[in-house]
Amino acid sequence: MSINVQNLVKRYGQVTVVQGISFQVAKGEFLSLLGPSGCGKTTTLRCIAGLENADGGVIKIGDGVVSAPEQGVLIPPHERQIGMVFQSYAIWPHMSVAQNVGFPLAIRKASTAEVARQVDDALGIVGMRHLKDRHPSQLSGGQQQRVALARAIVGRPKVLLFDEPLSNLDAKLREGTRLEIRRLQRELGVAAVYVTHDQEEALSMSDRVIVMEAGRIMQTGTPKDLYRRPSNRFVADFVGRASFIDVQKGPDANTWIAPDGTPIRLDSGRAEAAAHYQAMLRPEAIDLIAAGPEGMRPNGANVLKGRVYDSQYMGAHTEYLVNAAGTTLKVHSTQDFGPGSDVLVSFDPVDCHLVAVEDQAAKAA
Ligand SMILES: Nc1ncnc2c1ncn2[C@@H]1O[C@H](COP(=O)(O)OP(=O)(O)O)[C@@H](O)[C@H]1O
Ligand SMILES: [Mg+2]
Repeated sequence: MSINVQNLVKRYGQVTVVQGISFQVAKGEFLSLLGPSGCGKTTTLRCIAGLENADGGVIKIGDGVVSAPEQGVLIPPHERQIGMVFQSYAIWPHMSVAQNVGFPLAIRKASTAEVARQVDDALGIVGMRHLKDRHPSQLSGGQQQRVALARAIVGRPKVLLFDEPLSNLDAKLREGTRLEIRRLQRELGVAAVYVTHDQEEALSMSDRVIVMEAGRIMQTGTPKDLYRRPSNRFVADFVGRASFIDVQKGPDANTWIAPDGTPIRLDSGRAEAAAHYQAMLRPEAIDLIAAGPEGMRPNGANVLKGRVYDSQYMGAHTEYLVNAAGTTLKVHSTQDFGPGSDVLVSFDPVDCHLVAVEDQAAKAA
């Protein structure tokens, strides 16, 4: 079943924390809500689950309306056919693995035989059948999270919701569990909404990502879309590392002017209408060259004069801070340059994107 959210509004007292957002998740699709702490991700998820009552808008799961407060419709959570995994695993210490996993079915008053069958099915999917009689204290953190996953998928829900399920796991385990969650969701073929503030998690797991800020959607796209072609400064900054050059309109749509007067050829395709613009560059899209003439190359590449200002050795590459075009650019290079080196900074117009800079004054108004 699909999930359809239309103009969802949620208020706490006087504060509107979800400001009329809309999106759809197709059956089999994995969608992430990505954004900084406090932007409304959890609230959105809990409104879909029915753990919070929305104040406005319509939420449908499949063809069924589960939330439409203006029409007086608010279906309780256990009737929404969802499975949910929380950040804190929220498994009960006094129950065995099997009892924990079977709990959602027990409250739906399934027969003992049916519960046993469904628990066996869910534990099989997460590879935990052999531990069904253990108690949580006898399990590692990763195994406890698997119990939480099994409990979410028991009874084969139509929709899966995840709220930062990996943040309590150590780095190594987190990577493995990412793959596990994706495998599980593909196997069940259900729509999934995954909440995270971790851009790497969102990029690596999702079919599509929604970037949120202050209860609003800033951009929706595939991971590659958001990373390579962000449409505004917030998304460019939040998703991956980036440098920004203030630019003014130039002689044509794809040539803009840096503060020091340097013309920069770029891709202006995605930028939203705004009062101010910047050119965005990813650190790996820039080449550092020791010497040669500046200017635009016959192949169209931008070549600017720069000076190495600082560097950090990272192993696979060195991150340089390079002063160029009246600003400081982050550049990843495998070559060695000392501090104070004069260099040329080269990048393709297709890797340099015009982004809208939100007017802070206009936003506050
Ligand atoms: N029960 C609540 N009462 C009042 N304010 C809340 C409540 N839950 C969340 N908020 C506020 O709503 C905003 C969004 O919270 P949340 O959805 O948890 O953000 P996120 O999951 O993106 O970090 C925050 O400003 C938070 O402080
Ligand atoms: Mg949250």
